[in-house]
Amino acid sequence: MTGGQFVSHCTADAISAAAKALKAGALVAFPTETVYGLGADANNGFAISRIYKVKGRPNDHPLIVHVASLDRIHPWIADIPEYAIALARSFWPGPMTLILKRSDLAKDFVTGGQETVGLRVPSHPIALALLQAAHDLDIAGIAAPSANRFGHVSPTNSQSVRDELENFLDAIDVILDGGQSDVGVESTIIDCTGDLPRVLRPGAITKEMIKNSTGQAVSNEVSEIRVSGSLEQHYAPAAKVLLDADPQPGDGLIALSEFETPNGVVRLGQPSNNEEFARILYQALRSGDYQKLTRIVVIQPKGEDIAIAIRDRLLRASRGR
Ligand code: TXA
Ligand code: MG
Repeated sequence: MTGGQFVSHCTADAISAAAKALKAGALVAFPTETVYGLGADANNGFAISRIYKVKGRPNDHPLIVHVASLDRIHPWIADIPEYAIALARSFWPGPMTLILKRSDLAKDFVTGGQETVGLRVPSHPIALALLQAAHDLDIAGIAAPSANRFGHVSPTNSQSVRDELENFLDAIDVILDGGQSDVGVESTIIDCTGDLPRVLRPGAITKEMIKNSTGQAVSNEVSEIRVSGSLEQHYAPAAKVLLDADPQPGDGLIALSEFETPNGVVRLGQPSNNEEFARILYQALRSGDYQKLTRIVVIQPKGEDIAIAIRDRLLRASRGR
């Protein structure tokens, strides 16, 4: 059985059909600049319950609500601190999720029963067009986790979405193709419920950028908020991921291009900088699985830029599924 209508050319008509499918309670997988999302009308409890089923994800994990612009977050929230407005103005549309105090619109089935809601304005043109078309049908937001099975690597192209989910989607569901995600790792999640912004999940928007935007320090407190991406084991391929090890013949290898490939080692990725490392990482891990490798060695990139997010995901991937 294969489910989900695959749309390879996202014309305006195709996007409006996808929005109508959302309105009718279907799931729509769509591209964003970070990773692909599996979307549902954020106010449709039945559609949301299907997201959890399709992903095989525990029910109490909160979802990010996506909207088309900053002014559309207001129905979802009770209030917003000044520094969060500064962040939204600096980095939306873009790879950043803000955690804010929820309003009554944000139901338990989206927030996992927490008093907060995660909100993001993605920058991918197809995501924005879908959000706008959905808004025109009175859909206040699209709830969307990454479009992978629970614990797996997030998809960064539509083929990976099909590989992950096709067997779990229904005929009414839709998969939109929008090419390769540009950033390649999930959004930076920032808790905005305290006096200072606090990073719950590192991403392309770094602490330095947050400091510069808000003029405020970034809290180093450890979070008590549940973030499933913070589970110790997550973002993992089937192969065993070894960090900074000596690759043996038959192993896969992902490392910056300055590292040479030893004899007999299968090179899965050789990005020339940290941004490219993030962009190719998940697909490179997947290609190790497609080639049925049992071990993938990754030489971690150094630095305080997006390399922080890469090392965060790699650490979790190295702990296995
Ligand atoms: O880049 C991204 O953020 C992608 C694209 C599709 O937008 N989405 C994504 O969703 O990565 P997901 O569900 O795979 O990861 C979102 C994380 C989860 O770990 C969830 O626990 C956390 O965000 N989250 C969502 N709402 C939250 C809330 N109210 N409080 C704390 N964490 C929250
Ligand atoms: Mg995810």
